[in-house]
Amino acid sequence: MKVLILGVNGFIGYHLTKEILSTTDWEVYGMDIDDNRIKELENSRLHFVEGDIEINKEWIEYHIKKCDVVMPLVAIATPKMYVEDPLSVFHLDFEANLDIIKKCAKYKKRIVFPSTSEVYGISPDAEFDEDKSPLCTGPINKERWIYSASKQLLDRVIWAYGNHENLPFTLFRPFNWVGPKLDSIEIAKEGSSRVVTQFIASLLFKKPIYLVDGGKQMRSFTYISDGIAALIKILKNENNICNKQIINIGNPKNNISIKDLAYLMRDIFSKHEKHKNDKEFSQIIEIDSKEFYGESYQDIYNRKPSIEKAKKLLNWEPTVNLEDALKLSIDAFINEYE
Ligand code: UGA
Repeated sequence: MKVLILGVNGFIGYHLTKEILSTTDWEVYGMDIDDNRIKELENSRLHFVEGDIEINKEWIEYHIKKCDVVMPLVAIATPKMYVEDPLSVFHLDFEANLDIIKKCAKYKKRIVFPSTSEVYGISPDAEFDEDKSPLCTGPINKERWIYSASKQLLDRVIWAYGNHENLPFTLFRPFNWVGPKLDSIEIAKEGSSRVVTQFIASLLFKKPIYLVDGGKQMRSFTYISDGIAALIKILKNENNICNKQIINIGNPKNNISIKDLAYLMRDIFSKHEKHKNDKEFSQIIEIDSKEFYGESYQDIYNRKPSIEKAKKLLNWEPTVNLEDALKLSIDAFINEYE
C-alpha cells in the first residue's frame, strides 16, 4: 500500500510513519515544511519531500493519483493560535485542506481525515458519541471556535462527497493525544503549547504552572501509541469496515481535571532520576483565562469520548494509563532536551 501523508513531520505524522515503517511493508510518501522529527527515520520506503501544502499543489495532485490512501495531517492545532491568528487557522486548516479533499473526490481516492474532539465543543453529553452527540460551539466573538467550526465543516463536506460522489473516507477524532514530540519545548517557551508539553516546559525551566480559570476543566488524555495502533487498523480497513465511519480515538479512563493533572505531573517530575535532587519545583498558580489567552477564548469543561465504535469496528482499546502516559512523555522530553 502507498500512503500519502501531508504533515508527515508533525506529532501524529512522525509516530504513524515510524510505526508503518517498522510493522508493515507499505510505502510512505510524505510532505512537510520541516524534517526535524522525521529525519531520524531514514528508510528506503519513506519518500520525503520538503514542501508546503499551500504552494506545492502539483506534487500533491500527482501523489494523490499515485497513492492508495491520503492522510492530510497539516493543521494549526494549538488553542493559543486560534485566538491570536484565527485567519491562519482558516486558511491552513480549512481552505488548504478543502483543496486536498476536492482532489481526493476527483480521483475517488480514499481519505483518512483528522477531525477533532473540538468539534463536540460544549456539547451537553457526558460522553461524546460520533453519530448522536450534538456539536455545540460558542458565539462568534469567541474566536477559539474557528478551529472547531472549520473542522466541522470539513467533516460535513467529506461526508457529503462520500454520500453523493462516492468518495471513500474515514474520519477519526483524536482526544488529547499526548507523548514524546507533542509540540516542542521552544513552542512551550512562548507559552503557546498544548497543556502537557506546556507543563513539562514549566517544570524543566522552574517556571510557574498556570491553571487556567482554576483548572476545573476535564480532558481524557490518550497516549500516542494507543492512538497510532487505532490509526494503523483504520488504514488497514479490513473488509472496508471503516468506510464512511467517524471514529473517536480516545481514552475515557484517563479523564482528569487540569488541576489534578498539574499536581500529578509535578509529582512525577520531582521523582524523576535526573530531578529528584532539585532544590525547587514549579509553583502551581491559578490564572484568569482572559489574561492567559485573551477575551476571545472560551473553554470546554467536559470532554470524554465514547469509544464503543472504535472497540467494535477496530477490535481496539487503549492500554496506557494516565500515569504511564505522563511518565513516558516527561521522560522523553527530559532526555531530548537535556
Ligand atoms: C486541544 C486542541 O484544540 C487540539 O490539540 C485538539 O484538536 C484537541 O484539543 C485535542 O487534542 O483533542 P485543548 O484540550 O483545549 O484543545 O488544548 P490544551 O492546550 O491542551 O488545553 C487543555 C486545557 O488545559 C484547557 O482547558 C486549557 O485552558 C488548560 N491549560 C492549558 C492550562 O490550564 N494551562 C496551560 O498552561 C495550558
